[in-house]
Amino acid sequence: MGQPITFHKADQLKAKPDSDHLGFGNFFTDYMFVMDYTADVGWHDARIVPYGPLELDPAAAIFHYGQEVFEGMKAYKAKDGRILLFRPDMNLKRLNHSCERLDIPKVDGDFVIKAIKKLVAVEKDWIPEKPGQSLYIRPFIIGTDAFLGVHPSTTYKLIIILSPVGAYFGDSVKPVSIYVEDEYVRAVRGGVGFAKTSGNYAASLRAQSKAEELGFDQVLWLDGVEHKYVEEVGSMNIFFKVGDEVWTPELNGSILPGVTRDSVIRLLKHWGVPVKERRISVKKLFKKAEKQELKEVFGTGTAAVISPVGFLKWEDRVIKVANGETGPLAKKLYETLTGLQTGEIKDKPGWTQEVKLKGSSKKVSEKASEVTPEPETPVAE
Ligand code: COI
Repeated sequence: MGQPITFHKADQLKAKPDSDHLGFGNFFTDYMFVMDYTADVGWHDARIVPYGPLELDPAAAIFHYGQEVFEGMKAYKAKDGRILLFRPDMNLKRLNHSCERLDIPKVDGDFVIKAIKKLVAVEKDWIPEKPGQSLYIRPFIIGTDAFLGVHPSTTYKLIIILSPVGAYFGDSVKPVSIYVEDEYVRAVRGGVGFAKTSGNYAASLRAQSKAEELGFDQVLWLDGVEHKYVEEVGSMNIFFKVGDEVWTPELNGSILPGVTRDSVIRLLKHWGVPVKERRISVKKLFKKAEKQELKEVFGTGTAAVISPVGFLKWEDRVIKVANGETGPLAKKLYETLTGLQTGEIKDKPGWTQEVKLKGSSKKVSEKASEVTPEPETPVAE
């Protein structure tokens, strides 16, 4: 797919939002990337066009049977002016795994990364620069056949939109509160839990509303069979510091293989912190909390970054974690990860990729401090 990417200029550009009130996913840039798939030609007609509504047949597959996959990644503005992407190859690998599960034709990952870089370069002035801010990148693929039979579509669109964002949970300093959902389930093994597809999030919405009605920020899902083992949170993977170890649910087919999850595991191992990817029963966790052994809980995700958890509710019990504050490990992980993403910390593992702008070849900041996680070995779930 070494095809050209055409550019269609907008008649008018939008006013930029107030960078003090971005929130998450509220604003969208001037342009989007679009590419079409037909069975005879494959992926074709790559183009950057003005951001705007799509025209789709009301019978399109996406509206009826949810044939869709998506990704979430970010572009960061470094202090030295460079624009950086964080492990985009991992996102594209996961997008193609999701495509496989949803029976959607795969994309050429390198080409899509090239398209993302081109789109981000066009929209460079939309990248917010304050701490904790970035340009969120949302690639997604939808089935577009106008046909009501339950069958994979034969035509698709890949679209990439961009949104300047701040912290996902608004006030990033305040730890989130989490409700352990024991009635509804998100996914089961053999289903689509490991894929990034809209249906997983649609299935989560009723429980999310329930958690909010009860005064909690997010839902912690238990396994779909026994309702005993912790899986993931609404918009992030989950980690527990128990004594001197860190536990996170093992990837079992119903959990999203997060890029931030993988980066955190690698950082922890590099720091000599014992990490266990294992089955974690919620009962055991609450027992550990009773014995004061549950030291920290935090979520990880592209949108959520590292989000400390201050409260956990399960059945009629509520536990306060780390005194409701951000623990030292979550803080260190947040600082290291965002430091790597924004070029403040020297990128020894080679996780960032620069978006080159015409006529700019800035060197890595001399001030960048050092961190040395293990060399890259991409996870391929
Ligand atoms: C992300 O972290 O990028 C996600 O896609 C989570 C999203 C549901 C907000």
